[in-house]
Amino acid sequence: MGIDLILGLQWGDEGKGKIVDVLTNKYDIVARFQGGPNAGHTLIFNGKKHVLHTIPSGIFHPNSLNLIGNGVVIDPITLKSEIDGLGSYNIDFYKKLLISKKAHIILPTHKILDEASEEAKGKLKIGSTLKGIGPTYMDKTGRNGLRVGDILDKKWKIKYFKLTKKHLEILKNYNPTKDYNLNEYEKKFFKSVESLKKLQLIDSEQFLLNSIQAGMKILGEGAQGSLLDIDFGTYPFVTSSTTTAAGACIGLGVAPNQIGEVYGIFKAYSTRVGSGPFPTELFNSEAEKIAKIGNEFGSTTGRARRCGWIDLVSLKYSININGVTKLMMMKGDVLSGLKKVKICTAYKVDGVEIDYFPFDINSNSIKPIYKEFLGWDDDLTRIKNFSDLPKNFKSYISFLENVLEVPIEIISVGPDRKQTIFKNGDFI
Ligand code: GDP
Ligand code: IMO
Ligand code: MG
Repeated sequence: MGIDLILGLQWGDEGKGKIVDVLTNKYDIVARFQGGPNAGHTLIFNGKKHVLHTIPSGIFHPNSLNLIGNGVVIDPITLKSEIDGLGSYNIDFYKKLLISKKAHIILPTHKILDEASEEAKGKLKIGSTLKGIGPTYMDKTGRNGLRVGDILDKKWKIKYFKLTKKHLEILKNYNPTKDYNLNEYEKKFFKSVESLKKLQLIDSEQFLLNSIQAGMKILGEGAQGSLLDIDFGTYPFVTSSTTTAAGACIGLGVAPNQIGEVYGIFKAYSTRVGSGPFPTELFNSEAEKIAKIGNEFGSTTGRARRCGWIDLVSLKYSININGVTKLMMMKGDVLSGLKKVKICTAYKVDGVEIDYFPFDINSNSIKPIYKEFLGWDDDLTRIKNFSDLPKNFKSYISFLENVLEVPIEIISVGPDRKQTIFKNGDFI
């Protein structure tokens, strides 16, 4: 089959970067299909940590090509600093990195608009990463956006200044007296656009079609998670792209019948960064412990992530929407040492028990119903084989598999590339 996908099933930060890196040696091409530098994908190997925002997580493997698809929004400044930051790795970005001409560009004023919009929302703010994601996708669907292919036209700045002017007009509605001096910002932006121009800018849907026909193996890398999806997430506390499997078709130009495996990634518990409902959120010492051991701080903004128990109602919902064929569970090691661990199996809404994800996910009216499991004390981070995992952890896994009705093929027991257990051997 043409292309397999890796998707987050919760509110992002499930560990997508790590797993893409682990699996890249099985693939010829890794392709990011949505989101932008709001993403922070962490890879750890040979004792070094890397956080990628725009560059696909297959970039460190010598034989992989890495594509930034049309569904991604690109900030040329972030992309340049990411490339510069990897200078010591001798990666030939001119060969290994391909960028869709149809991807949209984040302008300096998109970021300013993001900030102004969040500020105006006051208490109802989304908790955006302020990377300009929402305003850039708005210009895309509003048919005003600047695309990567546009910068190849010598007169591209006419389009740029027209759009910036429009943004400055909109900003006056937020604050009529505020002046924005864009000079320094624009200098950096224009310089970064020149760097972007030197990379391989391609008609990526045609490239992928040719690659599929040539029998190459392709891995689609998602950003964010299903519960942040613009349609199916906890709206309006979501991001502005389609983070679910259908987003890969839109964001890469591959047909639905070309999608093969859909790998769904989730943490052994739940986290969320930014605002919005979170039914299984904890506010006690268990949450503090999980946050500390799991190092739950945003990879992009450094903000503390909210922590809670795993939620099978929302996981089942995500699995169904994405058509997940195989599951990968991350960070089981973080739960070691807890006396008891809980799994949310249903919600009680206004006294009525439901097992589906409702329209109104209001944490105040939803009461999670939990099943309690005995914890485990063992350090999982050195375990290499499934059979060596502690009995109580295995019971936890098999309960999840039974309810979710999808096999858990990978169990990650630490942030390093090597701390990865393949339950049934090499499954690809
Ligand atoms: P992504 O956005 O889905 O790629 O995830 P992030 O990189 O934002 O966040 C995942 C965090 O968990 C990173 O700090 C990873 O290094 C770390 N991580 C990934 N898998 C594991 C695991 O199995 N155990 C532990 N302890 N940390 C992990
Ligand atoms: P990765 O790919 C976790 C969250 C923000 C905010 C909301 C909207 O690393 O999993 P935006 O900047 O898109 O306007 O923010 O979505 N958010 C993420 N949370 N991981 C991410 O990406 C996220 N990208 C956006 O915190 O609540
Ligand atoms: Mg992340």
